[in-house]
Amino acid sequence: MSVLAEAGMISFARGIPAPEMFPADELAEAAQRAFARHRATALNYGPPAGFAPLREWIAAEHGAAPGQIVITPGSYILLTFLVRVLLDAPGPVVVEVPSYDGAVSLRGSTARRILPVRRDETGLDFARLEHYLATGERPAFCYLLPTFHNPTGTTLATADRERLVDLAIGHDLLLVEDDPYGRLRFAGAEPPSLRSLLVARGAGELSVFMSSFSKVVAPGLRVGYGVLPERLAQRVAAVALDTYVSPPLWPQAEIYEFLAGGFLPAHLSRIRELLRLRRDALVTRLAAGLDGAGARWSNPDGGYFVWLELPAQLSAADLLADCERAGVTFVPGPGFFADGGGASSARLCFSFHDVEDIAAGADRLVAAARGRLVGVGAA
Ligand SMILES: Cc1ncc(COP(=O)(O)O)c(C=O)c1O
Repeated sequence: MSVLAEAGMISFARGIPAPEMFPADELAEAAQRAFARHRATALNYGPPAGFAPLREWIAAEHGAAPGQIVITPGSYILLTFLVRVLLDAPGPVVVEVPSYDGAVSLRGSTARRILPVRRDETGLDFARLEHYLATGERPAFCYLLPTFHNPTGTTLATADRERLVDLAIGHDLLLVEDDPYGRLRFAGAEPPSLRSLLVARGAGELSVFMSSFSKVVAPGLRVGYGVLPERLAQRVAAVALDTYVSPPLWPQAEIYEFLAGGFLPAHLSRIRELLRLRRDALVTRLAAGLDGAGARWSNPDGGYFVWLELPAQLSAADLLADCERAGVTFVPGPGFFADGGGASSARLCFSFHDVEDIAAGADRLVAAARGRLVGVGAA
């Protein structure tokens, strides 16, 4: 399927950047520098954990050792490697509900018991998590999206992060923190990462932090990474070696020159502002059309997603059918729920279209929702 929306269709479905968000000139410059400086290594096979200068750059950013960094062709494949390595250990896996649909779909391939923990705008359902731990569950790991959560766009408060870290330390629980959107903050203050809190408590061994340059620079370069305890990094690198011998080093060298050339800060300022305007366009139109209709939506401080919760009697799948006829599309909630649920929810991605198209798409969605609400006698 093409990543571009069909002609006339406004897509809130896929979490992809708009082409105007790519730092095209800077990447061209970085590519030239990478060719001049690194072609002898970057055009060859290389270490499975990735291009050494980029590993060092990422390690310095995270206050980690280069041996803790594994760079992969995007962070999704890193998640699959981690699952392979970590599921050597017995025990179920704690997953937020809702959660990233890519992670939810891994469930089928692992046949591992999932312990669902509800996540919403108020935070994480700690009572449930504490109940699991108190009743003797020994999870292999806990997979979390603390910042600009996919799909809800919400961010865990610092107090929740500290509570999670207390639980992790108390129960020897590994926290896998997936954070591809954290750099895309356009409002509010940045809370500490789970990793930084664990490291400050001398418990860095309980942290896996993963991120990606896909949403921040360009997904086509396929550069994601993990900051892991060194032994785990070695095991993940061994799986990488078995899988593809060497990752493509060329895009890693290009990203390295982009970062070392100091292009990231100005680029981030530019795309954060684009994203802020797009979020504003979406939530303003939702408010204009759905206020008082029993629907709720998140208002994220960054990232790509708004989460829309419709009145319970309205099915997001039915609404999607109406919306597609009207020329707008989104992802209905159930794909994000590991335990069933989400029937009346929708993920709306605001990264791809410009503000005019977002406003037009939101108006189409609102009109379809209003029509359905009349149909079910709720408006
Ligand atoms: C939460 C989350 N994790 C991981 C990924 C994978 O991204 P990539 O493989 O492009 O780095 C995505 C992409 O949508 C995501 O939303």
